[in-house]
Amino acid sequence: MNKFIKLLILACELHNIVIQKTIEKGDYMSYINNGNNLVFGGCDTVALAKKYGTPLYVVDENYIVERCEEIKESFLYKYKNTNAVFASKAFLPLAMCKLIAKQGIGLDVVSGGELYTAIKANFPLEKIIFHGNNKTEDELYMAIKHDVGRIIVDNEYELELIDSISKRLDKRVKILFRVTPGVNSHTHEYITTGQKDSKFGISLSDDIIFETIRKTKVLEKVDLMGFHFHVGSQLLDNESHLKALDIVTELMYQSLKRLDFVTRELNLGGGFGIKYAFGEDRKPVSYFVDAMMDKLYENCKKMNIEVPSTAIEPGRWLVGEAGITLYKIGAIKSIPEIRTYASVDGGMTDNLRPALYGAKYEAVIANKVNEKKVKKVTVAGKCCESGDILIKDLEVPEIESGDILAVFSTGAYNYSMANNYNKITKPAVVMVNKGRDRLIVKRETYEDLLRNELY
Ligand code: LLP
Repeated sequence: MNKFIKLLILACELHNIVIQKTIEKGDYMSYINNGNNLVFGGCDTVALAKKYGTPLYVVDENYIVERCEEIKESFLYKYKNTNAVFASKAFLPLAMCKLIAKQGIGLDVVSGGELYTAIKANFPLEKIIFHGNNKTEDELYMAIKHDVGRIIVDNEYELELIDSISKRLDKRVKILFRVTPGVNSHTHEYITTGQKDSKFGISLSDDIIFETIRKTKVLEKVDLMGFHFHVGSQLLDNESHLKALDIVTELMYQSLKRLDFVTRELNLGGGFGIKYAFGEDRKPVSYFVDAMMDKLYENCKKMNIEVPSTAIEPGRWLVGEAGITLYKIGAIKSIPEIRTYASVDGGMTDNLRPALYGAKYEAVIANKVNEKKVKKVTVAGKCCESGDILIKDLEVPEIESGDILAVFSTGAYNYSMANNYNKITKPAVVMVNKGRDRLIVKRETYEDLLRNELY
């Protein structure tokens, strides 16, 4: 190869590495390209918008790999008998399954559809754990037939189904009980799950939990391995995880004392928060796992019980900041002395979170990242719904129709919660990595919308 070309390639790679590092810091404004365009995953976002159209989900593969590495370094390699699964509800195209499998991380699925996706991606099925508060008989049959690693049992109804299916298929099934530790967490009411009044998990009332354990112990083909808790999502402190851990280690102790039940496995759930708005910060995974592991070791020592093997199941933390969404600005409407609306070509169909949880996002004008911010606009979606507002009072430079808006931290629960309200088609998903881009989900077409409809 010509020396000059080699040098050019080296310079490009160096440039991309620098950009990758600035993404790490989470300083959105430092994504700036040489020109005036936002660069993400080493790719010029304005060029991506042109190439693939908008709205467009862009996901940085390298970011996800780095988070997987962090999980390995800070949890899997650091502590004995540990396991990590990615909560696939956050983002599960086939390409993501492949990527997670390649990293050696497992998968948490909550539906037949998620399980089917994993099966189609040839995901190692023994690394799958199956969640859900109302798994159907068909879903459980599918999971048991395919020998998924663990089923996290949420209630007694499910236990009866598993008992009968395991006998019918003559398969041993390893399960954990998801318990409701009864702790409140500091997050949106819709994404707290650990409080007593929750649709998830088995109640820790003595007469319920110990009776359920007792019943399970005698089931012919079912092995109860231990317990699972998940206290909530987008948690930026570890307080509720630690409270829940105290409660569950006490449960382990009581189960041993009263029923001679040894907890071999403990799943500590996910819920680790990320950066959405300026000023928020994603904590390293060690912030959560070190504190929990210290407490677990300490409690087990105090209670004189064996330390079970442990698992974590982060979703958002692994992929949230890996994603941005690109939109094209269309109509701009100024209401004198009130506000200016900048409408984009997507909205609550590709990002339901602001409408559903009042979630806050940050964004920049991708083709004007160096320009001075001079005004505030409210970013509206295109759905026929007043609540379809993506960002209120976003500071922007002078904007015009045709500008590209890039919204940050849309990697988790955006594509996976996308819908077809107003018969709006779902965006494409592009995976970027150090300056390269590839389509991993095609944009939906109008024909796709009608595929299942009959006269
Ligand atoms: N494990 C269990 C049992 C869960 O229920 C969840 C999330 C997770 C793990 C992963 O949580 P994460 O690490 O992603 O916080 N749609 C909502 C989030 C719902 C989360 C439900 N369960 C949102 O957009 O914020």
